[in-house]
Parts: sequence; structure tokens; C-alpha cells
Amino acid sequence: VVVYVPHDSGARAVGADAVARAIDAQARGRGIDVTVVRNGSRGLYWLEPMVEVATPAGRVAYGPVMAADVAGLFDAGFVTDFSTGAPHPLALGLTERIPFLARQTRLTFARCGITDPLSLDDYRALGGLAGLQKAVAMPPAEIVETVTASGLRGRGGAGFPTGIKWKTVLEAAGPQKYIVCNADEGDSGTFADRMIMEGDPFVLIEGMAIAGIATGATRGYVYLRSEYPDAIAVMREAVDRARRHGVLGPRVLGSPHAFDMEIRVGAGAYVCGEETALLNSLEGKRGVVRAKPPLPAHHGFLGRPTVVNNVISLASVPIILDRGAAFYRDFGMGRSRGTIPIQIAGNVRYGGLFETAFGLTLGEIVDDIAGGTASGRPVKAVQVGGPLGAYFPRALFDTPFDYEEFARRDGLIGHAGVVVFDDSVDMLSQARFAFEFCAVESCGKCTPCRIGAVRGVEVADRIAAGQDPEAQIALIADLCTTMKHGSLCALGGFTPYPVMSALTHFRQDFQPRSPRSH
Ligand code: NAI
Ligand code: SF4
Repeated sequence: VVVYVPHDSGARAVGADAVARAIDAQARGRGIDVTVVRNGSRGLYWLEPMVEVATPAGRVAYGPVMAADVAGLFDAGFVTDFSTGAPHPLALGLTERIPFLARQTRLTFARCGITDPLSLDDYRALGGLAGLQKAVAMPPAEIVETVTASGLRGRGGAGFPTGIKWKTVLEAAGPQKYIVCNADEGDSGTFADRMIMEGDPFVLIEGMAIAGIATGATRGYVYLRSEYPDAIAVMREAVDRARRHGVLGPRVLGSPHAFDMEIRVGAGAYVCGEETALLNSLEGKRGVVRAKPPLPAHHGFLGRPTVVNNVISLASVPIILDRGAAFYRDFGMGRSRGTIPIQIAGNVRYGGLFETAFGLTLGEIVDDIAGGTASGRPVKAVQVGGPLGAYFPRALFDTPFDYEEFARRDGLIGHAGVVVFDDSVDMLSQARFAFEFCAVESCGKCTPCRIGAVRGVEVADRIAAGQDPEAQIALIADLCTTMKHGSLCALGGFTPYPVMSALTHFRQDFQPRSPRSH
């Protein structure tokens, strides 16, 4: 019997390793033949560690399982008696029928949590490498055209059309071109990059190889943050295995195309997720932002034409090549095509990864899919798009998940992290936090961000202290205008989103604090 226990760091953080050991020990003690496979997470994080058993009817799930529950699961026959469905308080039934999963459209995450992450055989058996197989036989311009026609836009947050970025690099002249994967996932409440790298690393490798063949780049780098040690280990091993099996190397899948890649580890600065600071860091320099233009597509890593794409953008490419542009394009709304892995976090009952076509409203995501707050108190604010995303009140819950619709309401979907707050949150403190975050993480290159963020913290403190709050509020608005228009990159330029949304929608919180609460 095959039993799946996630090796995902989210599951390991809540005891998955101890559960795997306990299952091994119980099976041996009882003389039952059990193979434990360490899979990725299905992304139902409130149920982790979620253990699955392969039964004739499909995988059956149990969770959240603690090591102390394992003997009881064996007593209930979870690996020996499939006829009863093993009645047990932790039994969740067939995994695919758990509503949170059944309601999703998994294209990019199709294999995550199902495949054995480091098994290339599993990867192939579950449809992997079909996209790359097609790509090696296509002229590069046709691959680029397919990605453009699919409507895929940069999933790192900016939503720039991936195919157009690739076209710029394809048409740029240069003796060497590069594919750089931005895996410096730093937004609060986000984990999609980590989850796919730990749970299905070959899909990223395949996407990077396709990007290389499409643009004429023969080398790739994954810039992976040091805070993700499990993802680093899995990706390194997966790259080795892909090379050993001819997926990477001088003849990709036996074709005349060469592509190879390596994993580079960042040192933990938020700003290194900004593409030009990332390139500096990758070159061994300090992670300071470069002015654009020139764009990395023209003048990137070591001054060569470089594609810089987020993990999810690249991991979405194999299915586009495999199933065709029209298949992918068919999902979504407006100019937001395909699916988006929404990461639900913060004060929610059901937190996790929810991949779906663009177009669900924020209200459906928060009230329905996330089940409202874990605390049971009313939702007050939802921050979408990381620490530099806007806070939306319930009045904006009808906003559909779509790049343009969020922008129209002075928000952004960014990397699709959704962080929910109940009515105990103090929005003046959140605005102060945004300034403080910017002050701490600023690379220091431009004045509006380096100085403005520090001044912003001081102004927020003066409001809390009751020092002429109306004048301070006017000052905050003025400061935000300067930061928005005068900053060199999105760190300083986007800090006004959380600050101004807090001020606009939750003005009542911008009040002096009583001496004790202050
Ligand atoms: P941007 O709008 O300047 O650029 C987007 C991308 O398009 C870049 O790669 C740029 O080089 C490329 N590009 C623009 N014009 C082009 C052209 N004509 N040809 C080829 N390529 C072209 O946005 P930026 O500063 O790169 O990203 C900002 C976003 O990053 C924000 O929306 C924010 O949501 C997101 N973000 C994501 C984080 C994460 O953890 N994933 C963390 C912080 C911010
Ligand atoms: Fe550096 Fe901030 Fe200016 Fe960006 S906005 S270049 S992080 S100082």
C-alpha cells in the first residue's frame, strides 16, 4: 500500500516528518507492507499534515494527522480495510472530492501533491515533458507566438505579457542570452512559488527549458531565497536528475537545442525580488536597483539579453505548449487569461492554495472559499498583493480577481496573496507598518523611498500621539504622491497603496490613541 505524507515545508512545520516516521514504525511493527512517498502539498494547509492512502477508488485523505494519531489510524484499518472507508474522526474521504480542491481548476498545479516530486517517471506518467517535446520541434518564433496567444501575463505581480517579453529577448542580438527565474518570493501571505518548487520541481525546469529554446538562451538560473531551504534542496536534486536524464544539457530531449541551469541562493533582502536588484545580486554585487531602461530583456544578467520571469509564469508554460494557446486562453476574464494560484492566508478558516480561472470576486474568495475568519469575528480588511498591496474593505468585495479590475479600484493582485484581517486590526498601525517595512527594506538608491519611508513612520506616530492629526493626514497624502511618482522601483512606488487605502477606507482609525494604548 502506498501512503503519501507531504514533504512540503508547510506540512513539515506542523509535524509531517514525525508522522512519516510513525507510519513506517507502525507498519513494520504490524508486518504490513507500506511504502511511504513524500509528496508535495495539495495546498489545503489547515489540514496539514494531510496523509493520503492509495486505494482502488482513488486517494483517500486523513488530516490533520499528528504522530500520536497514527496507531489509531492503523487500528481503524486505514491501510488494510478499504471497504469501510476506514471510519475515523480524521477521515476526509476521497481527496479529489474535498470541496476546497474539487472547486479548483488546476493547470499549473495539476501534479502538485499527486506526483512524487523527484520522480521523473511520475512526472512523465502524469503528462510532464509533453510541452517541451513539442517545443523542441517548433521554430522559436512559433513558441513565442503560442505563449503570446495564450494571454499569459507575468505572475510575479506586474502582469506584463510573457510572450512579448520573450519576443524582445528572441529579437535582441547577443552572443549569450539567459533565462532567470525569480524565486525570491517575498510577499506576505504568498507561498505558490515555494509550493510548486517543493511539490513539482520538474514543471519549472521544463518551463525554463522551453523559455530557453524560445529565446535562444542556453543558460538559466533560479534565484531562490535562502529562507526556502527545502525548495533549494529539491530544486538542486531535480536539476541534477533532469541533467542525468537528458532533459537538460547539450541536447535537450535528444534535440539539437542546448539548455542547462543552476540554482543560486539569495541572502534574504525583499528588494532582491525586484528584477534589476536580483540581477545585481546574481552577479555577486550588492542588491541595489538599476534604473530602467535599459530593460533586462536587452541588458540583463552580465549585460546580456535576459528573460526574468517569476516561478509561476514559467511553470505555466509547459501546459500551454502541451494543450495549446486556445486551451489556456479559454479560462479567465477580460485581459486576465488562464488561471491564477490564489494564496489565502491571514485570519481565515481555510487557508491554502486555490488555483482558479481569473474572475472570482474577492467576496467569494474570502467568505466562501476561505470560510471567513478563523477568529469568528467580522472581516474588516483584506490585503491583496503583498505588503505593498491595497487594503480592501467589505464594500469592495464585488471586485473580480482580474488585473485591470483591481487597478481600477486602486489595488493590485500582485503575486495573488490574499491576507485577511478581522475587526481587531488597527489600520493606522498597518499604515505605519507599510512605511516601516519600506524603510527597513529600501535599497537606498532613491530619496523618496529612502527618506520618505522614515518620515512616513514619524508622521503616523504623530497622528497616534494626537499632534495636529488633520495636518499630519494631509502630509501623509502628500508624501505618498511623492513616493508614488518619484521612486525608482515598486518598493517605494507601491508603499502608497497600503497607506492610502488604509486612509481612504478606514479613516476612522487615523485617530489619536489613548496614552495607554499608545
Ligand atoms: P514593471 O511593470 O516595471 O515590469 C514588468 C516586467 O515587464 C519586467 O520584467 C520588465 O522588465 C518587463 N518589461 C516592461 N516593458 C517591457 C518591454 N517593452 N519589453 C520586454 N519586457 C518589458 O514591474 P516590476 O517593477 O518588474 O514589478 C512590480 C510588481 O512586482 C508589482 O506589481 C508587485 O506586485 C510585484 N511584486 C512581487 C513580489 C513577489 O514576491 N512576487 C514582491 C514585490 C513586488
Ligand atoms: Fe531602492 Fe526604494 Fe528607490 Fe526602489 S524605491 S530603488 S528600493 S530606494
